[in-house]
Amino acid sequence: MTVKRGFQSIGLLLFFCGLAAFTACQKREKPEEGGVSTDHKGIILGFSQIGAESAWRTCNTRSVQEAAEEAGIQLLFSNAEQKQENQIKAIRSFIAYQVDVIAFVPIVSAGWGNVLREAKEAGIPVLVTDRKIDIQDESLYAGFIGTDSVQEGRAAAEFLLKKFETLPPGGPVRIVELSGTVHSSAATGRAQGFREVLKSHPRFEIIYSESGDFMRSKGLELMRSVLQTFTQIDVIFSHNDGMTLGVLDAMKEKNLKPGTDIIIVTVDAEQAAIDALKRGEINCVIECNPKQGPGIMELARKLAKGEPIPRQIHVEEEVFYEWDDLSGLPPRGY
Ligand code: AHR
Repeated sequence: MTVKRGFQSIGLLLFFCGLAAFTACQKREKPEEGGVSTDHKGIILGFSQIGAESAWRTCNTRSVQEAAEEAGIQLLFSNAEQKQENQIKAIRSFIAYQVDVIAFVPIVSAGWGNVLREAKEAGIPVLVTDRKIDIQDESLYAGFIGTDSVQEGRAAAEFLLKKFETLPPGGPVRIVELSGTVHSSAATGRAQGFREVLKSHPRFEIIYSESGDFMRSKGLELMRSVLQTFTQIDVIFSHNDGMTLGVLDAMKEKNLKPGTDIIIVTVDAEQAAIDALKRGEINCVIECNPKQGPGIMELARKLAKGEPIPRQIHVEEEVFYEWDDLSGLPPRGY
């Protein structure tokens, strides 16, 4: 039996998905029941993105869109504007449209069980990208490709151990942590890895931790208030470059020298952070690699053909230190 896709018009699909952009979306016929699509050009991928909170995120979106075009995969792209409920709606729309594969960046880790069960019942494989989910029934998604946030947190702490080894022994090292979106795996993972390494080094004390939601404006606000509250801060560990740029602005307002008066460790490796590292205003930048599009397309192709994929793939990431020679580093592209 041949099943037609459920939507009457592209206009209706646009309405349901709240799509920011999608390419060449045509109605087409599903393969015979139980069959799989073998025509790569015919693959339709529904992708739910969180939003555009940072230059990192914009690059992540671009990577997905460019890779889909390159792979000849039709992309239904939905921007959730930082709301989980919008992501759930988008995923339901993809199910109704009977896409071949669904991929999404979970804004937070929990709360995906129902919608993923619906996808499973509809026979549509789901790929989790960038951030991880916490779910009891692991069979509700096919696999994960994205960043290793726990490792990023460990790398931040390991830098501090090296840095303070080179300084004359002293008293406590007072750390302020600006964390990312509450309940996102990017924030919980970075916090976990950071603490895991520092727990056996009691000299390092996290004196304050607050979420800046991965946003530059919130990084600025938070740092202004932190500088009013605490007289002695040795380190800022910021979960992303956007917030870090806000931190630098707040410090300069107070005529403080970032990177010297306070050691700054940040995650993402946007061009602006690498430039600040070169200027000595940041001491360590941990890369979080946004260029996940090609990997996502490769996995989507396999899933559409009914092939198995690895349970978890971490993209490659580097760490850039203040003592590195970065003169030959190519432009970051974000
Ligand atoms: O999930 C990755 C994080 O999300 C990046 O570190 C941050 O910039 C983005 O908003």
